[in-house]
Amino acid sequence: MNVASISSLLQDAVQLCVVGYALRLTHRFGTARVGWSTFSALALLAVLRLLQAPVHMNLLSTPAVSTEVVGVLASLLVLVGIIHTGAVLEARRRAELQEKQMERRVAEKTQELAAANASLRETAERLEAEIAERSRVAAQMEQTYKDLLVASREAGMSEVATNVLHNVGNVLNSVNISASLVADHVARLRVANVSRVADLLDANSEEIVTFLTTDPRGRQLPAYIRDLGQHLTQQQEAIIRELEFVRKKIAHIKDIVVVQQDYARVSGLAEPVRLSELVEDALHINTDVPSQNRVEFIAEIPPDDEILVERHKLLQILVNLVQNARHACEESDAKDKRVIVRVSKEEDRVKIAVIDNGVGIPHQNLTKIFNHGFTTRKDGHGFGLHSGALVAKELGGTLVAESPGPGLGATFTLDLPLRPPDTRS
Ligand SMILES: Nc1ncnc2c1ncn2[C@@H]1O[C@H](COP(=O)(O)OP(=O)(O)OP(=O)(O)O)[C@@H](O)[C@H]1O
Ligand SMILES: [Mg+2]
Repeated sequence: MNVASISSLLQDAVQLCVVGYALRLTHRFGTARVGWSTFSALALLAVLRLLQAPVHMNLLSTPAVSTEVVGVLASLLVLVGIIHTGAVLEARRRAELQEKQMERRVAEKTQELAAANASLRETAERLEAEIAERSRVAAQMEQTYKDLLVASREAGMSEVATNVLHNVGNVLNSVNISASLVADHVARLRVANVSRVADLLDANSEEIVTFLTTDPRGRQLPAYIRDLGQHLTQQQEAIIRELEFVRKKIAHIKDIVVVQQDYARVSGLAEPVRLSELVEDALHINTDVPSQNRVEFIAEIPPDDEILVERHKLLQILVNLVQNARHACEESDAKDKRVIVRVSKEEDRVKIAVIDNGVGIPHQNLTKIFNHGFTTRKDGHGFGLHSGALVAKELGGTLVAESPGPGLGATFTLDLPLRPPDTRS
């Protein structure tokens, strides 16, 4: 065996290895077409080689197929196999790439879907929670509304009660003082002296003429009886006057209660009222009150002073205004403490100003003083001006406060129509 035959055998061995590798590729890539075409080409090559084997082994002198043909065919077949394998591998790579892209896209889409799903679930849960919250809020609102209804009714009732207490309280104070004055007058009545005169006359009844003309006691008796009579008459008049005030005040209390009972009624009964009388009543209710600080009360009212108004409502405003002015004067150091009630008419309106030279009002309090509950007095309720402004509005008017500042007094002006708003044509 020469070197050529050994090399040829080695070539055969290499080709068989290539066939084996092709089979392995076929198996690995699972592409029958590539594997089998390569395998077939290489198998053919191997057959051609085998056909030459007897020549190499010196068994035959001439090969069945010439070595050159086999070489060219082998090279061609290997080239075709390599190109085909390369093309198939490239197609395979692309397919794999596409598959991976597809997988990635599917994974992305799956992720997106999962996210969308999660967000949908979250939205559904949020909506559910929101609906539950809304129903809770709606139930709470309904309860609050019911509570408010009850509270406003109670507040209205408590306002009525406060109003009654405030206004009745003001008047009762004055009734109390009138009652004390009446008691004083009665205590001072010298009625016992009448009995004493009767006893004296009784004791001297047999010689009554002599007693009346000669006895010094008898001669003083007629003058004494006249004095006694005068004294009793004066006391009686004072008592009647005081009782008349008590009667008016009790009537005013009755009015206050009736009006409050009839709270829902917008407008009450307007009647012709003489402002001079009404102001006198308002001042009287205040001047009865004992005070260490003397305050002078002055009424400046024009003669033609009649207006059509709900009497007790106007009286209620004035009593509080005069009372406030009196308090302001009592608290001030001014020597000539004075409260003036000045009435002036302008076309179809009337202005009633209560002017005092008391402690005055700081600028920042001028609007606050009308707030319910605002008071600077120890025993004040902060109700008078609040209710006064409301009542003034009910009467078709306004109540305004002015003050140049602390220590400089104040003026409260009530502006009213001469007739109530609904009776003016
Ligand atoms: N003429 C005035 N001069 C100075 N301050 C006044 C005068 N009138 C009212 N005020 C101030 O306004 C506040 C409110 O007055 P309002 O009549 O409403 O209540 P009050 O007098 O304090 O108590 P009440 O409810 O018993 O009348 C007073 O406490 C006082 O500070
Ligand atoms: Mg007051």
